Formats: sequence, C-alpha cells, structure tokens
Amino acid sequence: MEHIAVAQDNDVLVVAPATANLLASFAHGLADDFLTTLYLAFTGPVVLAPAMNTAMWQHPATQANLETLRRRGHRIIEPEDGFLACGTIGPGRLAEPERIASAVMAELRRRSDLEGETVLVTAGPTQEALDPVRYISNRSSGKMGYALAEAAAARGAKVILVSGPVHVQAPRGVAVIPVRTAREMRTAVFENLERATVVVKAAAVADFHLTEIPAQKVKKTAARLTLELDPTPDILAELGRKKGDRLLIGFAAETENLEREARRKLETKNCDMIVGNLVSDTSGFDADDNEVLLVLRTGESIAVPRASKRAIADRILDESLKLRLALHSAHER
Ligand code: C5P
Repeated sequence: MEHIAVAQDNDVLVVAPATANLLASFAHGLADDFLTTLYLAFTGPVVLAPAMNTAMWQHPATQANLETLRRRGHRIIEPEDGFLACGTIGPGRLAEPERIASAVMAELRRRSDLEGETVLVTAGPTQEALDPVRYISNRSSGKMGYALAEAAAARGAKVILVSGPVHVQAPRGVAVIPVRTAREMRTAVFENLERATVVVKAAAVADFHLTEIPAQKVKKTAARLTLELDPTPDILAELGRKKGDRLLIGFAAETENLEREARRKLETKNCDMIVGNLVSDTSGFDADDNEVLLVLRTGESIAVPRASKRAIADRILDESLKLRLALHSAHER
C-alpha cells in the first residue's frame, strides 16, 4: 500500500517533467502504476511542469487535459520556449528549476494560510416566485462562489456556503446551506454571520421580487400581464453596516464602466473589496473562466487576467489576506 502511505505523508505532489501521457492519465483518473495511483490517493496541492515536443504540447487532446487539470485546481507551470530534446525549437522545454521551486513554495504557503478563519460564501442566483410554478432568476451558475469555497477550504478555512439553486457539486469538506430566494439567503447569512471572519458575497441576488405570491398558478389569457415588483433586501449593504472587523468582499457584474461602478459599490456598501467582472459571452456568468478587476478599500485596483475561476479564487484570497494586513497596519498607525 506504498502509494497510500506516500500520499498521506507528503504536503505537495510535484511532477517535473510531466509527459503528455501523464497529463492524460491524471486528467482521466487512470491508475495503472505507482505515480498515477499515488495521484488518486493524494488530497493536497498538485504542481505539474510539463515538457514535451511542441506539436504534442499544442495538440487539442493535451490542451483539453491541461484544462481539466487546471479546473481541478492544480498548478500548471507552462513550459518554456527553446531548444527541445527532439532537435526542434519551440514551446515544450521544461521550466527552469527556480520557477518550479517558487510555484511549490507558493502552494505550500497557501496550504494553511486560512487556518483559524471561518469564511462565509454566498453563491449562485436566487429564484423569486411569481406563482407556485414560475419564477424570475438570472444566468448565474454559482461556479465562481463554489470555486472560492473550494479554494478557502483547501487553504485550511472552515467554510459555510450559502447557495442558491445551482448544478455545481459541493466542494469537499464544505457545509452547504441551500436557499432559494433573496429573503432566505438573507436569513441564512445573518444566522451564520457571528462565526465568520471573512464574508464573500459572490451570489447574484435578484434585485426585485413579488412580495405577495399568488396561491394558485396564474392562468394564461390573451391579455397583457403586468408585474409589479418590489426591491429585495440588499444583503451586502446590510452586511456593510454590521460588518465589525470582518473582511467583506462583494461582487459587481457589469456590462459597462466596470471600475467606476465597482468603486461606487465599494463605498455605498462599505466593503473592503469588490470583485468586478465585465459580463461577456466567454467570461463572467455561466462561464468556466473569468477575468476580474479587484477594487480595494486602500484605493488600489488590480486587474487579474483571464484564468479559470479556481485560479481567480486563489488570487482573490491572496489579495484579501494582503489587504487585511494593510488595513490593520494603517489602523495601528
Ligand atoms: O448592487 P449590485 O446588486 O450590483 O451588487 C452586487 C453585490 O451585492 C454582490 O456582491 C451581491 O451578492 C450583493 N447583493 C446582495 N443583495 C442584493 C443584491 C446584491 O447582497 N439584494
């Protein structure tokens, strides 16, 4: 049972060089030798430094396997451009040892940097009933919030995930509190706020709802139907009023003027950070990737280039920890 013992005794799994065959085996969970069985038994961070011929690296099969591994939260150290063992020049050369070592150190630092924290995350859309069978909602998939919950748990935090209706699997070790409406989300958030040291409001909460829901299904007629909607409770704004010394992170999905809108939300809702994203076809709502602008209470803005939502989640947590340190030392001065 050597693969189990090695998996339990070690903090990080690094494969350098990682071949095309190894990436395929890891991506698909094939386990026919020591390393691939070790991989399945290992629950910590995984760092992969691929090296291969340029055409093999660029092959859609290899790129699809890499995508699967990235989504799983593994760190891929892109190969470098250069002279390859097969005699050609191009991307495929194993990264320099310094790059591999610093990626491993970053994974080890992250591994327990949220120990002792309780992170309350909201995710997904809310559904607001129009009658017993109909509702209004939005295109949020919940993927960003679930990626944040997964990343925070992997880094040692206790995570409470308040989730609207989604089709994403709950991350390992995370307690999920399912809710449907904005009101239910508000109740679940404030019931759990006391324990939280960090609150991440990634949910796309409906802004309007029907306060009086008809008891029976509304009948179809030829006449026009007009709906009168009331605003839902703004959970983030209320959190801003009651935050104490918790770190409060909100989201802003915009179709224009991202930085201005994100900063306006940061101020009006008293947040420490707003994660702004421009909604487009390939990032933001319902996509696997995202590209965000972090707007911080310190006045700084950080553009995070396009990456998987899992990688973006780690970056948001990295910047949140730095921000808390900066806010504390500013407070002490
Ligand atoms: O103002 P806007 O709805 O665009 O702000 C988005 C941020 O506010 C998100 O973090 C979202 O979770 C939160 N929000 C909320 N309650 C609402 C509406 C939005 O907590 N009713």
